[in-house]
This record gives sequence, C-alpha cells and structure tokens, in this order.
Amino acid sequence: MSDKKVQKLLHITTFGCQMNDYDSGRLAALLTREGYTLTRDKEAADLILLNTCSVREKPEHKVYSFLGSLKEIKKENPNLIVGVAGCVAQQEGEKLLKKVPLLNLVFGPGEVENVAALVKRAQAGERLAATSLGALGRQIEPELPPDPGLKSQVTIMQGCNNFCTYCVVPYVRGREYSRPAETVLAEARGMVEKGTREIMLLGQNVNSYNDAESGLNFPQLLRRVAEIPGLWRVRFTTSHPKDFSPELIEVMAEVPQVMESLHLPAQSGSNRMLKAMNRRYTREHYLDRVELLKKNIKIAALGTDLIVGFPGETEDDFADTLELVRQVRYDYSYSFKYSDRPFAKAADFEDKVPEEVKSERLARLQELQTSKSLELHRELVGRKLEVLVEGPAKRGEALVTGRSRAGRAVNFPGHPSLFGTLVTVEITEARINSLMGRLVKPAQGE
Ligand code: SAH
Ligand code: SF4
Ligand code: F3S
Repeated sequence: MSDKKVQKLLHITTFGCQMNDYDSGRLAALLTREGYTLTRDKEAADLILLNTCSVREKPEHKVYSFLGSLKEIKKENPNLIVGVAGCVAQQEGEKLLKKVPLLNLVFGPGEVENVAALVKRAQAGERLAATSLGALGRQIEPELPPDPGLKSQVTIMQGCNNFCTYCVVPYVRGREYSRPAETVLAEARGMVEKGTREIMLLGQNVNSYNDAESGLNFPQLLRRVAEIPGLWRVRFTTSHPKDFSPELIEVMAEVPQVMESLHLPAQSGSNRMLKAMNRRYTREHYLDRVELLKKNIKIAALGTDLIVGFPGETEDDFADTLELVRQVRYDYSYSFKYSDRPFAKAADFEDKVPEEVKSERLARLQELQTSKSLELHRELVGRKLEVLVEGPAKRGEALVTGRSRAGRAVNFPGHPSLFGTLVTVEITEARINSLMGRLVKPAQGE
C-alpha cells in the first residue's frame, strides 16, 4: 500500500516577493508535519508546489512555462500531485485548472494553513481550486523554520489597502492585516535563539503597521525587535513614501541595530503620473523625506522601484523620473515596464504607451542608474565598512561575501572561519552591484 512508502518527497518552487518566500516556508513546515521531506529534484517528488507571482506580465508568464516543463515528469509519474499556490492561483482560481490539465490543485494565499487537507483531497482524486481570503491574518502562531540561518525574514503584515491603480496585490492578497506584536517578537526571538543575527521585517507597506492589541506602530515595533539580545541587525521592506515618517527616521538614526538601508519605491518622478497611479504623495513630499533621512543618517543607502510607460506617460513625465534618479542618487533601483494587470484600474486607462517606447525608456533609465550606482560605489573606495560575512562569494574561490550596514554586497579574500561574524573591510574597488575589499579587522560581533 502507498502508505508503506518510507518517504514522501515535496518540491516547492517559489516566484515573487518575500511574502511568497515566507508562505513557502510555512507550506514546507506544515507539510513536514505530514511526513514530507523537501527535495530539489522535481523528478523524484510526490508533490510539486509552485508558489506564484502575478505582479507583472513577465512573472506570470514564468508560471505557464514552469507548468509546461512538468508535462514529461507527470507522464512518467502519474501519481504526482501538482499544485499552484500564491497570487496567480488567487487571480485565476478555477480557470487555471481548465487552462492547465496536469494541475491537481490551485490554492490562494488565504488557504496556506489548509494545505495538508487540500493535498489529501487532491490525492483522493479531486481537482480543486480554493481561493478564500477569509483566513488571511488568522495565522497567529509564531512559526519557526527548523534552521532559520544567519539572516531571516519575519512577516509583520499581510495584504494591502493602498490600491495603486497599476497593482494587483490588494486583490490577490486581501486587506491589510498587522500581526500581533507579541507574535512577531516571539518569532524573531526564536530565530535569534537558533542563530539568526539579521532580521528583515516584511510587509507591502510596513509603515502602516498598527497592532490594535499592543497599540504599537511600526517605529515602536522596530525598536522592540532591535532590542532582542543577540540580534545584530534589523532591516525592513517595503516603505510607502506617504507613510514613511520622521518618527521612523529617528529610530533608524538612534538605534544601532537598525541598518542604514531603505527601500523607498518612488514609481515615478512626475506628479501627474503619481496622481494617476493613486500613490497619494507628491515628488516634493518624497524628496523632503529623502532629505530628512540623509540629514539624520549620513551613510544611508537608498533603493527604489520605478515604473516606465504608465498609461499617459509623456517624454516630459519620464524626464521627471530621470531627474529624480539623479537628484536622490539611489544605490540601486528596480525598474519595470508597465503592464496591465487583472482587476487593476489602470488596465482600463487610455493612452497606453507603445511597447517600443517603454523599452527605450527602460534602457535609458537603467543606463542612468548603472552610472549612478558606480559613481556612488566609487566614493566608498578607501572607506572602512562593517560587514556581516554570509558565506563564500559566488565567483572567485578564496573570496567571501557579506553585506555592509547600508546593505551593499562586499566581497573580499577571507577564510570560511569568518562566516557569521562581523568584520571590518576596507573597500578597494567599486563595481556596479558590489564592492571589493580587504579584511582590516576580524571581530566577533557583540
Ligand atoms: N508594496 C510595494 C511594491 C510591491 S510590487 C510598494 O508599494 O512599493 C513591486 C513592484 O512592482 C512595485 O513597486 C512596482 O514598481 C512594480 N509593479 C507593480 N505592478 C506593476 C505593473 N502593473 N506594471 C509594472 N510594474 C509593476
Ligand atoms: Fe501594490 Fe501599491 Fe499596495 Fe504596493 S502599496 S502592494 S504597489 S497597491
Ligand atoms: Fe507577486 Fe504576490 Fe508578492 S503578486 S509581488 S508574489 S504579493
């Protein structure tokens, strides 16, 4: 009988943002309790789950090509159960079952907690789509992965209430929900006890965190997390410029464990576009906050997200975005061509920008960013930076890699005994996405 099989193997592939990474960890933990063991090998798996992203057209396409690549494997192993989770699952529901015949199961972010029961039904022969968002936010138990590692993520909120007109997230992730501070803190403490030294707090808009029970807002929660003994570094993402407050800047400046890195998506430098996007801040407000941050934290590194070719974007609007990039001097930026998304309002907007224009603007923007990143990184040559050593560098055999306080990748010749420690590195060379250096002083952290 099949339950004589000693080991059941589970493969999970994750696309999308840290919310999906987090959910995949949760899925793995819940299914481990059911006797599954994780495998990288899709061909050996009894259950394959794909956790999907639909934020733009491109990531959604990746879902269909991944599923296409499973056809052969399913032919070889007809008992294989294939499930799609995440935002495309929520968006498409039943339709996905119709489009992709090899699929057994489709379930959205609100059904993660029910995964074991859903898989059992699929194994019993049902093809099902579960897309209730009702249970989102009810997962209140702290969840500890078995081996959280040096750097861990903790979700502090789910969903989004902002309804930017281009964005699918509020529709596939539901309304904003702040996890109770006690749960967040218990989870973070547990990770630190298991060896985590750096925590990233996650949410679509962490600045609007508000826990009704404890009454803590985000800056207060951040302070409490930073106080956990044994935790060296805390970061957070994403910040919405309309809610990014002077109080938060104060905590970033005051608390040594809070790192000097900030991801502050601007989306556009044009007030006309920001209005059409329903971002609810102006270019001036954005620049005010950036200035305040730079005044209080000298070495802060800023990153951003930018969209080119939003409906109605003119060459002048785009020039405003280029100018913003020059003015702020971002360390890095993620830039995307606008794409229509299901449910999102902008899909119905007129004056769509032609594909060639979008591509051409994207190339110009990326070229500017590359030169700015290099310029900023060159200014760091000769400086001594605190680096948390993470592991071997991908390229170069004797090189190790880590991150500076501002979040920049730093590679330098070093011994594996440095992994997991805080060291001082003098920067010797600037690259676009990283810095090269040499070890000045090994240290053991705190
Ligand atoms: N919550 C975050 C971002 C989440 S989505 C925030 O508010 O900034 C990540 C990024 O994808 C967005 O910042 C945006 O730049 C991009 N994006 C979202 N929808 C998009 C669309 N329809 N077309 C192109 N880019 C999009
Ligand atoms: Fe999407 Fe805007 Fe919410 Fe970010 S804040 S997830 S861009 S709706
Ligand atoms: Fe993508 Fe869903 Fe995250 S759409 S960006 S995986 S919330």
